[in-house]
Amino acid sequence: MTEQKTKIKLAVFNSKSYDKLFFEQFNSQYPIRINHFEVALNAQTAELASGFEAVCIFVNDIVDKAVLDQLKAGGTRLIALRCAGFNNVDVQYAKEIGIRICRVPEYSPQAVAEHAVGLMLTLSRKFHKAYNRVKEDNFSLVGLMGFNLHKKTVGIIGTGKIGIATLKILSGFGCKLLCFDPNESDEVKTLGAEYVSVERLFRESDIISLHCPLLPQTQYLINHQSLALMKPHVMIINTSRGGLLKTDDVLSALKQKKIGYLGLDVYELEASLFFEDLSTEIIDDDVFQRLLTFPNVLITGHQGFFTEEALSCIAQTTLSNISLFFNEQKSGNELF
Ligand code: NAI
Repeated sequence: MTEQKTKIKLAVFNSKSYDKLFFEQFNSQYPIRINHFEVALNAQTAELASGFEAVCIFVNDIVDKAVLDQLKAGGTRLIALRCAGFNNVDVQYAKEIGIRICRVPEYSPQAVAEHAVGLMLTLSRKFHKAYNRVKEDNFSLVGLMGFNLHKKTVGIIGTGKIGIATLKILSGFGCKLLCFDPNESDEVKTLGAEYVSVERLFRESDIISLHCPLLPQTQYLINHQSLALMKPHVMIINTSRGGLLKTDDVLSALKQKKIGYLGLDVYELEASLFFEDLSTEIIDDDVFQRLLTFPNVLITGHQGFFTEEALSCIAQTTLSNISLFFNEQKSGNELF
């Protein structure tokens, strides 16, 4: 597939068993020699990358100026993100010092959309409670009363790839669909969904699902003011980025029973928690620990993307991006 004679040396940081599995599965097609490092890439670990022409990173690796200087000194020419977002990389400085960056802009919008709907159904039908009860031979239904998704009004904020995939699933449930996005999509209108103002979406939705990126304009979109507009017992689902929610305001709304159900796959301070087994550690994030105490809050640890289909696509696209770069060809997935 490529014409390189010597193998490209790739350091994969923050590598988990599943990363190894999928990279090894597809790497036979590429002229790449992979070293997996379990540690995150940061200023303390960057020297491990010395001698690697390419490094591969994920959402919580920190690539700031100090790291970029060390990568440059060690001979790295390419940073291959195995995710879509790149807010953890100082892109401007990388450009200045001549380190190129590529990413995987799309892998499986359905993976995240299905996870979001899974959170909705679990919260509405209390699967998480029922699972534990039945395990203990408790077959009482008291406290497990749910509600139908059919005919409920669902507000989707952000109608890009994942928002549209979510809309398609929910239209099958017979939901009334309201959307808000500054860039309206014609496809959304063909699904029977209606674009409305964000205020109307907040006022009329029984369920609100967030599918917009974290930007200065969307940071803390769910806050005291927006919560005040919402219906009592509203369900809020966030599979996008933790910073879309002002967590303290959300905690108050949960205590006041304004929020009836909260499903999170992301959390603002997740970098120090998610993707690791901390089951024997003391967690000193009191806000996160308080969230876990509510019976109507369901949290997953940023696993929306985590399906076989998505990981296959991520590994194949990343390896192809790297191979094409060192073959002086464009993948279309370069940041600049
Ligand atoms: P996309 O780029 O296809 O769609 C984002 C949409 O948000 C666009 O239509 C854009 O116009 C819209 N948007 C921008 N500013 C907005 C605003 N102020 N209000 C409302 N909408 C606004 O992105 P995609 O692939 O649909 O991903 C959405 C988000 O999902 C990502 O930004 C990421 O944060 C999150 N994500 C989460 C994953 C997980 O594992 N939980 C995995 C992948 C993505």
